[in-house]
Order: sequence, then C-alpha cells, then structure tokens
Amino acid sequence: MKINPVRGTHDLYGQQVLKYKTIQDLINDYSNVYNFEEIITPIFESTELFKKPLGENSDVVLKEMYTFKDKNEDSITLRPEYTTPMIRAAISNNLLNKLPKKLYGIGQMFRRERPQKGRYRQFNQINFEILGTHDVSADIELIILANNFLKKLLPTKKIDLFINSLGDKNTLSRFNIALKKYFEKNKEKLSKDSQNKINTNPVRILDSKDPIDTEINTKAPKICDFYSSEANEKFIKVQEILKNMSVDFSINPNLVRGLDYYCHTVFEFKTSDLGSQDTLIGGGRYDGLTKLLGGPDIPGVGWAGGIERLMMLMDDIKSLEKKIHLIINNESFREYGLKIANQLRNADINIYFDYKYNLKKSLAYANQLGSEYAIIIGDEEFQNNICTLKNLNKNVQEKKSIENIIKDLSK
Ligand code: HAM
Repeated sequence: MKINPVRGTHDLYGQQVLKYKTIQDLINDYSNVYNFEEIITPIFESTELFKKPLGENSDVVLKEMYTFKDKNEDSITLRPEYTTPMIRAAISNNLLNKLPKKLYGIGQMFRRERPQKGRYRQFNQINFEILGTHDVSADIELIILANNFLKKLLPTKKIDLFINSLGDKNTLSRFNIALKKYFEKNKEKLSKDSQNKINTNPVRILDSKDPIDTEINTKAPKICDFYSSEANEKFIKVQEILKNMSVDFSINPNLVRGLDYYCHTVFEFKTSDLGSQDTLIGGGRYDGLTKLLGGPDIPGVGWAGGIERLMMLMDDIKSLEKKIHLIINNESFREYGLKIANQLRNADINIYFDYKYNLKKSLAYANQLGSEYAIIIGDEEFQNNICTLKNLNKNVQEKKSIENIIKDLSK
C-alpha cells in the first residue's frame, strides 16, 4: 500500500533541510542581537482565537482554516498564523507585566488554500512581535530587522519593500463606507468573489488577485484620504525615519493585508522571482488585538515570513563538514571497528559506518557519497591496533595510530 503525502503538504530533505536550518540559525542570531525571546506554542488552538481577530469575512477564516470538533465537541483549529497564538500565550502565562515584550517564533502554519508554487497547506513561518508600545521606533525596528535579514540571506536578490498606513479604527470604518459605495456602483465589473464581499468587508476586495478586479481596484477611493491628523503624522514619521536610515521603500495605497486586525503601518517585502506568490514577509500594527483576545489594552506590531518562499530563492548550500567513511574489511573486525568509530565520534569527528564489511563495495559506496576520506580496517590494521587513512580525492594512504588520525582529521 503506497500512501501519498496529503495535497498541499511537502517533505523537507537534503538541500531543503540545509536551507531550512540556515534560515533558522540566522533567525536565532538576529533574535539575539535584536533582543527577542523565543516562544513555542501548540499547533492547535480553540477556533475562537482566530475567528474574530482575523476577520469573520477574511479568506483565512471563511475558506482556509483546518477546523474540527474534538471528541468532547470543542472546536479546534490548526493555527493558520502565529500572531494570535503568541499573544494568547503571552496572556495565558502572564508575560505582559514588563512591557514592551518582544517575542519571536518559528513553526508550521496550516491554511487550506489552492496549492501552487510557493503556496502550501502546511508551511513554515518566522514571526516577530513587539507588544506594548505605540512608538513608531518599534515599527521601524521590525522593518529594519526584516530588511537586514533578507539582505543577509539573499544578498543577490531584488526584494522590494512596500508600505502603507491603514490609519486608526475611525479611518477604517469611514474608508469601508466609501469603498462600499464605490464597489456597489461598479458591482457588475467585479469578480463573483469580490461581489460577495461588498456588504460584508469591502476592504478585502482590495486584496483580490483576480485580474478582473484590478482595474476597479486601481480607481477605488484611497485610504490616505481618510486618515486622522494623528494617523497621518504617524505615517509621515515612519516614512521620514526609513528614508533617513536609507531603507528603500514604495508606498502602495492599496496594501491592506489579508487579515482584519491591522491598523496604522502595514508593510510587505516582495520579490518578482516567484510568480504570483511573491510576498516573502508581511506585517504591520495591530493595536486593538491584545484587548480583543482578553488581555490588557496594549498596542502591538510584528511580521511573519514564509520559510518555503525564502528557501526557493536560496542558492544550494555546500556542507563544510569533512565526509569520512569507515571501511571494515571483514565482519570479524566489527567490534574493533565499532570501538574505533566510537573513539572518533567522541573526538567530534563525523563517521559514516556502512555495515558492508567488504573493501571493494565500501570504497565504491564512499565514492558515490562523495566522501573525502576512508578509514580502513583490514587484517594488518586489526593485528597492530592501527588504521589506514586514505585521502580519496588524492588517492594516497598511510597507516597510522587512531590518535594520529584524530589529530590529522581535527585540523
Ligand atoms: P500573512 O501575510 O498571512 O501574515 O503571512 C505571512 C507570510 O507567510 C507570507 O508573506 C508568506 O511568505 C507566508 N505564507 C502565507 N501563506 C502561505 C502559504 N499558504 N504557503 C506558503 N507560505 C505562506 C501573517 O500570517 C501575519 N500573522 C503576519 C504578522 C505578524 N502580522 C503582524 N505580526
């Protein structure tokens, strides 16, 4: 019986694991210098954690959540994103008594979207959140962190930063009324999906990737015409600081993000190398969210990046580790071989033990694996308590004590 992976899921192996680990290591380094604390939360949560905060009419909640009833009839959802679980965990564990709180997390998310290049039903995200400050420095710090991380990971790729402001609560409600009027007037020209959103959540129509909606969206009212003076000042400050810090960006007045919890600054880092799934990192402010989740009335700002999309842009990684093959010529030297392997590994030397007990077959296999050295144990080596160290690239070999081999390989 052959069981295939579930549609939209994928296994990571070989180069993908090396790339995944490179991202993970880099993120751990950045979190350290930017002073973010790691948090690891469960993969599933109560469904209500996501429904209202992400938006009852958002695509994620309407179509994409993996929701099921547990045996005791509780509604459970596999997390589609990490911001709400991280805030839930901060509230549950009383982590919000010293503010601002800076948290980061790496892990799997689940969305039942139509699978395509760069879009999966289970994928991995990096997530950074700052809870408890209105200061635009937090927005800037997060954008700079993302910018520096992307430059370090993908130094040769062209990645563009787009920003916008969604203003405060008042801005959004006035903007929604204007959008509703505008889309109502142009209803016939919109896609079916967007027509259904006119009354429930017209701002979501601006997210539409359907080409039918593009023209109507370009001519739609712009959110900047609805900013309060305070929201406007805040957005201008963000732009000024980014310019002064030499961070290149463009303003995209139609950037509204796909989730309902955002306000003020929103941003996305995009590439033109991945086709339609072009957003590498997306984020913004969510000032009412912690209160909505039953916590204190504190603001927040953060971003998430898709690990699979980042991996797709990375060059292959060469392992720097020396590959060393242990060849035991005859099964009767097995125990001696195991002891030698143990000694080498205790000295932090990586050893491949192949269980073939046949010089010819083992050498052929070591070459297939691209090993640099073979350590060979035959009759003479066994009797004299030594080994042969063979450099497979140079085709030279020498008999040595195990202590001298350890010295040579540790260089
Ligand atoms: P998001 O834009 O929904 O935001 O997702 C962030 C990133 O996750 C995307 O830019 C993309 O790289 C990756 N991503 C999303 N869906 C998929 C998928 N189906 N397959 C592969 N990669 C995907 C959020 O999740 C917010 N929680 C970000 C945030 C944090 N806002 C504030 N704090």
